[in-house]
Parts: sequence; structure tokens; C-alpha cells
Amino acid sequence: MSQENWIKAAQIDDLESGQGFETDVEIDGETIALFQIGNKYYALGECTHEQGPLCQGIIEDNMVQCPWHSARFDITTGKLIEFPAACRVTGNVTVGTQEEVETLSDCKTYKVKVEGDNIYILESE
Ligand code: FES
Repeated sequence: MSQENWIKAAQIDDLESGQGFETDVEIDGETIALFQIGNKYYALGECTHEQGPLCQGIIEDNMVQCPWHSARFDITTGKLIEFPAACRVTGNVTVGTQEEVETLSDCKTYKVKVEGDNIYILESE
């Protein structure tokens, strides 16, 4: 049986609703971002296009738009909602290669728990 490894990632006061937070936590080479929606917290890996920092993305409802080429993900599930802008607008890819876009997938998500003022991320998916 594997042991759960919860990593302290932030304090509640570090986060603001409507803004991502870049943690110091790195899992499988990806920097983990935290988000607050209402009174719930979510942790996502990097954008699956070219590892854009979703913590710097624009948040609308429960979606985050990657700051690099505008792919959109559901913060609560990690699901890819929209492909990068170059692909959406013209059908052609001017950002990255067609192969990169075709293999774009959902973003990694991680379990989050709050204890006191601290927010923890579960290292395994
Ligand atoms: S790196 Fe996120 S859309 Fe390109």
C-alpha cells in the first residue's frame, strides 16, 4: 500500500478568488498552481500545450485561460475546454506545431486539503 504524501503548498491568505497562485511545489517536473473558487481550492499542473503557467492565466467562472496561447481548462476537473487561440481562430496552428495541438490533453489535477490556515497538495494523482 502506498503512503499518501501531502505537501504544504500555501496558506489560505496567499490565495485570492479569481487569481491563480504559483506554489513552490513541483510534481513530475511541473510547477503546481492553486486556485480558489468560492470556498474550495483546486490544484492544477501546467498547460498541456507548451507548459504555460496556468497560475498566471485569466480566470472566468471556473475556467482558466493559459496566458501564453489561450487554451482554456476547467479548474475543477482539469478538462481541456478550448484549444490554443491560433488553432481556434484560423484552423491553422501558428503557435507550436499541429502535432502539439492534436495531442493536447486535459491538465493534471491534484487533491487539495486545508488544515488550519495551510493548504496541502497530494503528490500522487
Ligand atoms: S502554452 Fe498554454 S496554450 Fe500554449
